[in-house]
Amino acid sequence: MTTKNDLPGRFIVFEGIDGAGKSTQIRLLQEALQREGRRVYCTAEPTESVSGGLLRDALGGVSMRTTCELAAMFVLDRIFHNVNPVHGIEKMLAEGVDVICDRYYYSSMAYQGSDTDAEWVKSMNLNCPEIRKPDLCIFLDLTPEQSMARIEGGRVTKEIYETNERLTRVRNQFYRVFEELKGRDRIEIVDASRSIEEIHEEIVGLLQ
Ligand code: ADP
Ligand code: TYD
Repeated sequence: MTTKNDLPGRFIVFEGIDGAGKSTQIRLLQEALQREGRRVYCTAEPTESVSGGLLRDALGGVSMRTTCELAAMFVLDRIFHNVNPVHGIEKMLAEGVDVICDRYYYSSMAYQGSDTDAEWVKSMNLNCPEIRKPDLCIFLDLTPEQSMARIEGGRVTKEIYETNERLTRVRNQFYRVFEELKGRDRIEIVDASRSIEEIHEEIVGLLQ
C-alpha cells in the first residue's frame, strides 16, 4: 500500500451506497487477510455504542433529528470509535491488528453533506485531531438501480436514505468528495456490478 499510518496495523475503510456489497466484501477480505496470518478487526459505523444507538434510532425513523444533529452525532460516534480504550480503532492499530471499517467520514461527507453545508461537515471530520485518516478507502460503486434491486432482494426494512433519488444524490456527492480528497486520502473506486469473486480479487490486489 502507498499510504501508511504511524501504527503497525492497516486501516481500511469500505464505502458505497446502501446495498453496494460492503458487508459481503468485508467478510471475504477478512478471511483472506487471516489466511495470510494477519489479525483483523471488523467494525462499522454507526457503532454499537450509545451514540451509535441514537443514530440508528434516527436513521430508522424512531426519533426525529435535523441533518446538523445527525452530522454532529456521527462525529461524536466516530471519535468514540477511534479513541475508546476497550476496542477503539487506535488501540487495535497500535496492537498491529488490521482494522476494516464499514463506512467512515466519507459517508458523513456524502450523506449529510448532500443535505446541509458540505464544507462544515467536511471540516468537522477532517480537522478533528481524534478522527484518524484511513490508509485506504475502497468505494464499491454501483448504480442506485442496482443497489435498490439488491436491497429489495435481501431485506425487509428500509432506512431513510434508501430511495432511488436519494441514492443518486448521495452517489454524486461521493464522487465530488473523492475529487476534493485527491492527494489527501487514498481512495480506490471499484466497479461493484461484477461478480462477488471478481470484486474480491481486485480488492486483494489493491492491498499488495
Ligand atoms: P451492504 O453491506 O453494502 O449494504 P451487502 O454486502 O449486504 O451490502 O449486499 C447487499 C445484497 O446484495 C446482499 O443480499 C448480498 O448477498 C448481495 N450482493 C453482494 N455483492 C453482490 C454481487 N457482487 N453481486 C450480486 N449480489 C451481491
Ligand atoms: P449501514 O448500516 O452501513 O447500512 P447499509 O448496509 O445499508 O450500507 O449504514 C447505515 C446508514 O447510515 C446508511 O444509510 C448510511 C448512513 N450513514 C450516514 O448517513 N452518515 C455516516 O457518517 C455514516 C457512517 C452512515
